[in-house]
Amino acid sequence: MTRKLLGVAVASVLTIGIVPAHAGDAVEKQLQEYRQAAQMFGKTLKGELQAAMKSGGPTAAVEVCNERAPEIAADLSEETGFTLRRTSLKPRATEPTSWETAVLLDFEQQRAAGTAPADIEWHEVVEADDGKELRYMKAIGTEGVCLTCHGGNVDPDLLAKIEKLYPEDRATGFEEGDIRGAFSIHASLDN
Ligand code: HEC
Repeated sequence: MTRKLLGVAVASVLTIGIVPAHAGDAVEKQLQEYRQAAQMFGKTLKGELQAAMKSGGPTAAVEVCNERAPEIAADLSEETGFTLRRTSLKPRATEPTSWETAVLLDFEQQRAAGTAPADIEWHEVVEADDGKELRYMKAIGTEGVCLTCHGGNVDPDLLAKIEKLYPEDRATGFEEGDIRGAFSIHASLDN
């Protein structure tokens, strides 16, 4: 009797396990590519940022962020066919969409509950005008090196330069460990 019940229980668990895994294959595959693209974006930008900080100081590095961040995003978008960008609830350059805002607010809740920014991500398949679209966001944590330009005590000359480039800048006052923003990637779901 117990055995039979167990048998039924195991069988139904297996069925539940197999069906969504199969249906989710295309999503999972594309998600892996998104994760790689986000990682590449972060790594490339951080490498150039650190090199510029070292050779020309933060004022030169602002120019790297200003010019290279959008370029790297555009290059990667072209290479992958995905639309890539970075955004934030307190943006310097890129205002979030309403969907991104909702996701970022949820990320803040997860962060407040103790999850590290590196472990926070979200994906969703939405019905767009031209079919299914896979949207993905990945939180970006604030590190010590970021505070030079995003902290609460930015050097006045540097701040003047930042404000000249971004008169609407809201991306200061961050502390280490805060969520600075997120990578946001979307593309049609090809399956
Ligand atoms: C030298 C100054 C400087 C440093 C250091 C710096 N940033 Fe930025 N950051 C900028 C500028 C300028 C922009 C706007 C460029 C853009 O994204 O188009 C920016 C934009 C961003 C954005 C895009 C969202 C928004 O606000 O528009 C994120 C996310 C971000 N920075 C995260 C970081 C993180 C994480 C670090 C540390 C690893 C960091 N930044 C270090 C200057 C800096």
